[in-house]
Amino acid sequence: MAWEAKKFIEEKISQIKKIVGDKNAVVATSGGVDSVACAFLGHEALGEKLIVIFIDDGLMREGEPRKVSQEFGNLGVKVKIVDARDEFFKALKGIEDPEEKRKKFRDTFYKTLGKAIKENRASYLIQGTIAADVSETERGIKTQHNVLEQIGIDPGDYGFQVIEPLREIYKPEVRDVARELGLPEEIYQRMPFPGPGLATRVIGEVNPQRVEMVRKANRIVEEEIKELKPFQAFAVLMNDRATGMVGGKRVFGNIMVVRSVESKNAMTASVSKIPWEILEKIQQRITEEIPSVTKVLFDITPKPPSTIEYV
Ligand code: XMP
Repeated sequence: MAWEAKKFIEEKISQIKKIVGDKNAVVATSGGVDSVACAFLGHEALGEKLIVIFIDDGLMREGEPRKVSQEFGNLGVKVKIVDARDEFFKALKGIEDPEEKRKKFRDTFYKTLGKAIKENRASYLIQGTIAADVSETERGIKTQHNVLEQIGIDPGDYGFQVIEPLREIYKPEVRDVARELGLPEEIYQRMPFPGPGLATRVIGEVNPQRVEMVRKANRIVEEEIKELKPFQAFAVLMNDRATGMVGGKRVFGNIMVVRSVESKNAMTASVSKIPWEILEKIQQRITEEIPSVTKVLFDITPKPPSTIEYV
């Protein structure tokens, strides 16, 4: 049978109503299409019994907490912001191993959520795990932050039950659902952004200074590449150094990688063919606006053999 977003939405709304009953539920949104679609499915199903929170983990893109609460506000839904920046940076301090980073992020994320869920007297977490997240975690490629039961973690340990309305569908269908829910194009066409945020775009230690650097570079890449509408484009801070010249002086500076890929469902991806002038502009802006960067590289590796993110 052909995919029908409208029918899917009706089914999910009635399932959520049935499961949650007269209890409360929480959605933690990052502003990405998966969690926003979940928030609005939950809102349709539960009205005031759904509490939407935004965990500020310090790993979001520039201005994101404010932007997300404004967007929800425009759609008539209130967002509670939970400031957990210190907890996340404390948990990630000194960690370089990519899987270790993901695990620390996940643990801090669910502990923070568990606390917020308790404070809001909720029993359920509705989360935007999609089919690609489950598949990659099960195949042992990466531990996606939002996959728990499939790898033997009981969400009950964190103090709540999980509902995952999107776990059988992929990104294109999620975008259909978001469109059918009446969300603006700005949201349903938004570039995917990983749950662990900029922690997946910093090789080596994730600390506030290094995140700030990669946050600036991500904004530059997004601004300069926006018109080309790639599936995903971003910058990644390497852990190595390279010699450069800043103000006529030798500097052993940072290396920033620029990546832009085309994909349908994130399971495979090809490299975007970015015009040379745009790449040059990105390089100029990154080295000017972040003077500690002395090399800007463009990644030409498809998925496979690479993955989209670096961690
Ligand atoms: P990879 O790097 O595995 O990424 O090729 C595939 C897609 O998933 C996003 N991604 C994540 N999304 N939690 C998420 O919600 C995560 O832990 C996570 N890791 C990667 C990535 O941005 C890409 O779109």
